[in-house]
Amino acid sequence: MKIAVPREIDAEPRVAAVPETVKKFKALGAEVAVEPGAGLRSGIPDADYEAAGATIAADAVSGADIVIKVRRPEAAELGRYKRGALVIAIMDPYGNDAALKTMADAGVAAFAMELMPRITRAQVMDVLSSQANLAGYRAVIEAAESFGRAFPMMMTAAGTVPAAKVFVMGVGVAGLQAIATARRLGAVVTATDVRPAVKEQVESLGAKFIAVEDEEFKQAETAGGYAKEMSKEYQAKQAALTAEHIKKQDIVITTALIPGRPAPRLVSAEMVRSMKPGSVLVDLAVERGGNVEGARAGEVADLGGVKVVGYTNLAGRVAASASGLYARNLFSFIETLVDKAARTVAVKWDDELVKATALTREGAVIHPNFQPKSA
Ligand code: NAI
Repeated sequence: MKIAVPREIDAEPRVAAVPETVKKFKALGAEVAVEPGAGLRSGIPDADYEAAGATIAADAVSGADIVIKVRRPEAAELGRYKRGALVIAIMDPYGNDAALKTMADAGVAAFAMELMPRITRAQVMDVLSSQANLAGYRAVIEAAESFGRAFPMMMTAAGTVPAAKVFVMGVGVAGLQAIATARRLGAVVTATDVRPAVKEQVESLGAKFIAVEDEEFKQAETAGGYAKEMSKEYQAKQAALTAEHIKKQDIVITTALIPGRPAPRLVSAEMVRSMKPGSVLVDLAVERGGNVEGARAGEVADLGGVKVVGYTNLAGRVAASASGLYARNLFSFIETLVDKAARTVAVKWDDELVKATALTREGAVIHPNFQPKSA
């Protein structure tokens, strides 16, 4: 059983294995081959992988039974993989039907880590949580970096510096970590979400919860614990409340997402303009259409003296930590895909974790959510 760790292409600084998980794969009876330089941007030199028992090889993927990646492989990468290989990554499958077909055509069995069900058994494999947690942390660090003032209140002989006011919109995993990080830096923090369950969590972190708490709000959570798309009426009420609140904030961090849908637009250009010059917004949803009007993916936009930070892949800006957590998520899943006694790949295709994550198999797209539309 051979496991390959390619070097990510494009700007992705994370890597799918770290020396600790290489050792664990070896203990499962696997050979591990790593492409030269795969870990460099996560602070891991080739020698560290070698010391953990991996071989470093430019053709690491050749003949591999399992290829582990951070991002979905492109056609050129797939051409080098063995037909029938398991390919496991963050696949970004929604709206990417052509890419899924390319993987099916390459004959690989592709698994999307972000589709892992949020059940107790799979918590250790939850890449959305492990990466969103770091993204939420990093969003606050980016905001602090772009903000011309201090976060904590400081009482000095030369006068008092007031505490920064931080507003977090969308309190899932990323939002909770953003609240905690902003609190640690000494900011006065408020937060909002459409899911009622969040209120208590926000308060337990020492922040104040702000939302339109009407009947629709009380029902606004799916059985899976995710947000629903809210009615136009609710969105209007929410926007009015937000508009008043945002005017008084120094920092706004938005993380609101609805699975499989474009991100809800929460902050209009007018709201941005209502903020004091020098204020900062960080839009974590920018890759999914953005919560903030005027946010541009990969850039810091200046809207009348207010900065809108639209960096993508914030977890990748804490690459070493993000790679470590992602690599452990992957190992925990792969452990369930092998026969430990025989030391071979042995996917249980009826296992709920496999059914939820398997996108392609034997030339076809098999996931029910991504079936080609019949003509
Ligand atoms: P997400 O990344 O899908 O969305 C981020 C947040 O945006 C969510 O809290 C959502 O309610 C909020 N949002 C959506 N539309 C909004 C709007 N119009 N205005 C304001 N906020 C809006 O969420 P994430 O981080 O994946 O967490 C979703 C849920 O899953 C949470 O309850 C979380 O605690 C839960 N969870 C459960 C796990 C488990 O059981 N293993 C693991 C991780 C998370």
